[in-house]
Amino acid sequence: MSGPLKVGIVGLGTVGQGVVRVLQKNAAAIAARAGRAIVVTDVSVRNAAASRDCSLAGIRVHATPEAVVAADVDVICELIGGTDLANDLILAALAGGKSVVTANKALIAEKGNALIADAQARGLSLSFEAAVAGGIPIIKVLREGLTANAIDSLAGIINGTSNYILTQMTVKGQSFADALKDAQKLGYAEADPTFDVEGIDAAHKLTILASIAFGTPLNFAAVATEGLSKVQAQDIQLARELGYRIKSLGIAKRSEQGVELRVHPTLVPDDHLLAKTDGALNAVRVHGNAVGQTVYVGRGAGGEPTASAVIADLVDIARLNGARPVVPALGFTAAALAAQPTPFPILGIEEIESAYYLRLTVADEPGVLRALTTILADADISVEAILQKEPEDHEDARIAIITSVVSGSRFDAALERIRALPFVRADISRLRVEHFE
Ligand code: HSE
Repeated sequence: MSGPLKVGIVGLGTVGQGVVRVLQKNAAAIAARAGRAIVVTDVSVRNAAASRDCSLAGIRVHATPEAVVAADVDVICELIGGTDLANDLILAALAGGKSVVTANKALIAEKGNALIADAQARGLSLSFEAAVAGGIPIIKVLREGLTANAIDSLAGIINGTSNYILTQMTVKGQSFADALKDAQKLGYAEADPTFDVEGIDAAHKLTILASIAFGTPLNFAAVATEGLSKVQAQDIQLARELGYRIKSLGIAKRSEQGVELRVHPTLVPDDHLLAKTDGALNAVRVHGNAVGQTVYVGRGAGGEPTASAVIADLVDIARLNGARPVVPALGFTAAALAAQPTPFPILGIEEIESAYYLRLTVADEPGVLRALTTILADADISVEAILQKEPEDHEDARIAIITSVVSGSRFDAALERIRALPFVRADISRLRVEHFE
């Protein structure tokens, strides 16, 4: 067995402490798998006096991340987050001949192409299993386990905070604001929770998954994103009555026309595994042309689940014993990525085809349904399901419709005509529906 792999951790928050704890408690099994011990030798902390849920005995504690990057270690674990200092630290670590493991989804999604190229040119690893879906080893699944497949689509619950909020609203009838507060208390949310509720965190993760699935360069700007503010309690209820659950999904599909990348609240049939994935759990459905549908479920956040993914990357690096990585960071060779058309064709949200849920508040008058269905029929949109609720205030009725699959532009044109009808009130909800067929 070679000497231990020496690890420096930059940022000793929830995940960093989890990495220290899991490396200590599972030291023997990890060494037996990696062929050598993996030992944290150096860490940086912002506040030396803060209480921590791990033992730092025998570990050098530095006041600055730069001191860890300069220390005598083989690998740097970047766990501070953000896209500026973290980027500089990773570049400095690579320039110093150190491989890097990071859980930083924003950094990889936004600046990953250059960082990966830098690591590759130096023959070093830049690994980021922990950046997507916490403890679910989805990057390894796409990059290695499903490598035989042409992946045509993937869809996932990849933000635990949004899923927690929607679950609380659906199951407990909690308000959005209270559910978000609880998610923050439980430590699921990002430092700025708008990243969670506006779909930005999920868009970062989807960017990474789509690149690895389709062999295209990372392109965060291409993701169309809609947040949870679109979802009202009445939509959750109506969706349930129609046989659906509302989930915030990241969806990536590849067709001959190009790639579609989107994050939005989505109606999912209530018998699909994604509909049953509740609380802060994550789930990713991948469809490959050889394997068919596969689904991966697990904890997408938290100290030890995320540490599980960080340490898997460390074991890969330990096994290399200083040799060049054999698995490309995005699963495709640099030459294959470079051969893709630039810019890669990305479908605009108006071109993307989807079924829709439409909720309208209308005056309770004769002829309303006929006028609505005539507009939809004129646009060649079928009504797959319809639900009308009796007026509660003896004035307005609510109608919820599930449509056939239609392009965004055709649906929106029909919706504009519906909006102009005199009996349709301003409060309209329009969400996409996925059937995974
Ligand atoms: N804020 C993220 C989430 C943490 O809620 O999923 C894990 O990336």
